[in-house]
Parts: sequence; structure tokens; C-alpha cells
Amino acid sequence: MKYSFPEHFWWGSASSALQTEGESLGGGKGLTTWDHWFANQTNRFHQGVGPQDTSTFYHNWKADIQLLKQLNHNSFRTSISWARLIPDGVGEVNPQAVEFYNQVFDELLEQGITPFITLFHFDMPMAMQEIGGWENRDVVAAYSRYAQICFELFGDRVLHWFTFNEPIVPVEGGYLYDFHYPNVVDFRRAATVAYHTVLAHAQAVRAFRAGHYAGEIGIVLNLTPSYPRSQNPLDVKAAHYADLMFNRSFLDPVLRGEYPADLVALLKAYDQLPACQPEDSALIAEGTIDLLGINYYQPRRVKCRDSAVNPQAPFMPEWFFDNYEMPGRKMNPYRGWEIYEPGIYDILVNLRENYGNPRCFISENGMGVENEQRFIENGQINDQYRIDFISEHLKWVHKGISEGANCLGYHMWTFIDNWSWCNAYKNRYGFIQLDLNTQQRTIKKSGEWFAATSLNNSFDKE
Ligand code: BG6
Repeated sequence: MKYSFPEHFWWGSASSALQTEGESLGGGKGLTTWDHWFANQTNRFHQGVGPQDTSTFYHNWKADIQLLKQLNHNSFRTSISWARLIPDGVGEVNPQAVEFYNQVFDELLEQGITPFITLFHFDMPMAMQEIGGWENRDVVAAYSRYAQICFELFGDRVLHWFTFNEPIVPVEGGYLYDFHYPNVVDFRRAATVAYHTVLAHAQAVRAFRAGHYAGEIGIVLNLTPSYPRSQNPLDVKAAHYADLMFNRSFLDPVLRGEYPADLVALLKAYDQLPACQPEDSALIAEGTIDLLGINYYQPRRVKCRDSAVNPQAPFMPEWFFDNYEMPGRKMNPYRGWEIYEPGIYDILVNLRENYGNPRCFISENGMGVENEQRFIENGQINDQYRIDFISEHLKWVHKGISEGANCLGYHMWTFIDNWSWCNAYKNRYGFIQLDLNTQQRTIKKSGEWFAATSLNNSFDKE
């Protein structure tokens, strides 16, 4: 069968500043939490590879954009590094950063590739973390100023802005589950960080609209549909709690302009609500977006808890559900994530039925695989598994669109193998193989497949 996509469908990929630029200690850039954490706890990073060693986009941007062109991208998302643009978060703008991003955006446009730009992709300037990071409302104000500077500097060419990428990840990683700096485990502080992130988002949206900039503004959320083990009401309730905490905590404010009442009631009942100010709700109501980026990697399966909660243990989302391993689930063993293609369709249906069918696109989807060199045939990685992964997901995207979902594009994570935070280069996600020693780039079979799919705006599959 031929799967054809709507005219002007966005075909591309996503990346982020810190994961690709390299030069993390140069070019006038300030330190981020990642530079600091790596210097102090190198053992946390796979094979001791840190943020300064990422894929050299800072120097190779021109050649890399040629590769994007070869992949027939019509759009590409990356982020601006706040710490590169404003090294201490609040002060002077770094002219080297302005020059770098100007060149990148100009070259993308020159090559017919629309830049989609994220303002914050996990990379907090260290100077901002030192005053409390997202726990401090001064950082919210500093972020808002940073966003406005970006609109002023680049808004004549960047027409698709995203305030945050996966804002729940720094909350989970940094304040609940110990996989990002500052490695705090404290739900109330996590809730404060999440809340202030929503305020920062809304301030940026407000500034964007007040400045009458061209284009549109949105956010990128990682949505993990919550599936109950069974239809037993207790399992269903467990899934509802997981959905409230991990999806609706961001989805509702940015699409409906308010938090779900039952999430607020739940946190209130356990004394976990962040401190609110009277003007916050009006601000949040103004933060509704023009465009939603959907990152989808895996579903979340949950069941009713098997055991009683230990009241002496820190308050956690898992007080309300247990994670559930469905027998027979398909796994990506390298990343440890379940692969469940219909999940991407369920997200689109949920948005259509419950959120007014917003303009949206798949902003990330992808498969990290270890030791891909074993698949080299005639000098090229034959990653048929990635082609299968993408096409199976695209089939479900196609079905969603054919039923009316307002889904405008599909971006893969990612274009050249890049640095995956604490996993460094363990799992490779790219359409293009990166040789870490020589920095040589070689297109994988999936890259060729994607280039053809983008060119034809369709693919064939049984
Ligand atoms: C998303 C992020 O969570 O998934 C990326 O936006 C990240 O920054 C990607 O790299 C893949 O996840 P990971 O943890 O394997 O790098």
C-alpha cells in the first residue's frame, strides 16, 4: 500500500544545541549544568564522554546542513543554547553566538530548510542554577528576557519557535529520579520547578504575541500515553494518575490555559502544591500555543499498586501506581524502552477528541541502538530496523491524519548520531553515522529511505 501525506508535510529531524554543537567551553559560551556536573561527577557519563565532545556542529554546521539537504529535509529543529547566547544568563549577549546562529539560520533558509527553534532543551546556564534554577522566579524572568532577545535577533527568519523541549524531563531527572543535575529527590521542589517552567513558557508566549513577531510559537512535549494493565477500575484509576502527572501537567496548561482540577486537588491533599501568586492564572491562560510538538518514544503501562505505600519514604508519583511490564511487549533492548507504534495514533486521537484538534506535528520519534557498526555492509550501516521503526510509526500517523488529526509533519530524532546526556554515544539514533575518532559522517540506509520518502511525500509498505 502507498502511504501518502498531505501537501507541505514537514519532513525533517530534531536535535539540540548541547547535544550537537560541541565547543561547550569555547566560543564565549558560559557553563551549563552539564559542564559543571561532568567536571564534578564524570563517572555519571557513559565512558566518561562529556558535553564538550559532542558532534562538532559548531564548526561543521555548513557541511552538516548540506547533509540535511541530501536527506531532503524541508525543516529541521535544533535549539539555541541560552548559555552560549547570554553566558551568565542575564547579562551581555555574546556576539560570537549571534554570529554562529545567524549563519546557521541563514544557511538553512538558503538551502530551503525551515528552521524550527527551541529555546530550552535541558541546558540550564550554570549561573542560573546557582541561584536556584527553575525554583527561583528570577530565573523565570531571566528566561523571558532571553526569549525576547532571541525573537529580536532571529525573529525575522525563524518563524517556528518552541519555548521548551520536554519540560517534564528536567523535573523528573533533576528533582525526582536522579538522572539529571542537581540530583534532588523532592516532589514539592519538582512541582515548583514544573510550575515555574509553565510560567516561563507563558511569559515567552506573552512576549512573542506582544511583540507581534511573524510566525508561531509552541512547545514540544514528550507524551506517553498511559495504558492500564486491565479495565479493572483500580488499574484505570492508576493510569489516570500517571496521565495527570506525566502528560496533563504540561498538556493542559499549554492547550487549555489551566491545570486539571484533579491534579491540583491531588497535590493539595498531599501538601505538594508550589507557591502560587494571584496573577499566575491569568498568565498561564495567555500561554496557550499555536503549535504542539509531540515527542513519542514509548508508552507508559501501569497498574494499581501491589503493596502499601511506605509513609516514611519520599512522596513520589509511584505512590499512585506501579509500573507494569506487559507480557510479550516489543522492546528496544538498548534503550530499555517499549516500542508500541499505535501509541502515536492514540496521542493524535486524544488531541483531536479532548483538546480541540490543535495544530501539531511529530517533533521526535526514534530508536537508539548500540554498536551499530556490526550492521555495516559495503561501508554503510544497514539499519533496516530503523526503517521498520519509522515506517510502522508513520503508518499510524497516516491513519490519524486520515481520520482528521491536524498533524503537519514528522521529525526524526535525529540526523547525525549525537550525544545522549548521561548515555553519551552509547545508543546511536542518527540517519547519519558519526565516527567519533575522525568525525566522519556516513549516511545510513535509513537516511536514504527517509530522503526518498520526503521527496515522494509518501512510502510504500504492506
Ligand atoms: C528526547 C530528548 O528525550 O529523547 C533528546 O529530547 C534525547 O534530547 C532523545 O536525546 C533520546 O533519548 P536518550 O535519553 O536516549 O538520549
